[in-house]
Amino acid sequence: MTTASPLTAARPVGVPLDQLALDLADIFTHSARMVASHLAQHLPDTDTLLAALPPGALLGSAETYTRHLVYGDPLERFSAMVLVWRPGQASPVHGHRTWCAYRVLRGTLTEQHYRWDAASRHARHANTVTRTAGDTFSVPGGLQHIHALGNTSDEIAVSLHLYGVSRDHIATGVNLLVPADA
Ligand SMILES: [Fe+2]
Repeated sequence: MTTASPLTAARPVGVPLDQLALDLADIFTHSARMVASHLAQHLPDTDTLLAALPPGALLGSAETYTRHLVYGDPLERFSAMVLVWRPGQASPVHGHRTWCAYRVLRGTLTEQHYRWDAASRHARHANTVTRTAGDTFSVPGGLQHIHALGNTSDEIAVSLHLYGVSRDHIATGVNLLVPADA
């Protein structure tokens, strides 16, 4: 029987691989943009997609915005969720452990952007952007893009999100919660 070879952690290598990580971050950012670009041009039929949700799902929940797993890549390369936002509901402020691309399917979302202050290890609010139905955006992994999404409109909003994780990790392996301005 074949067993997995043991994995040992070496001490941090330092500069050479730190620089490689910086260089790769740009490539990952570009990849996320490519995914969003594809999502903008080749969105599956929205009505068919939303019809697959459980009955009543598009009404949302009184407690919090709701998340519905709608696709898990068989090779575990990415997963997709539909999020339903009632008026006044919002995500926590977060960076990402992986790339994300999303598209607003119905209604309007408000995206708050933050800048990471490494010295105080705190996210500082930078600006606010409105996303309307049809808008598509990407978010790279890491702390260079920190945001919170929410619904400040009077109507329910619905969005489709793709993440670079398997379905088993979509609940805990995406958002990187950070302390932020009140
Ligand atoms: Fe996010």
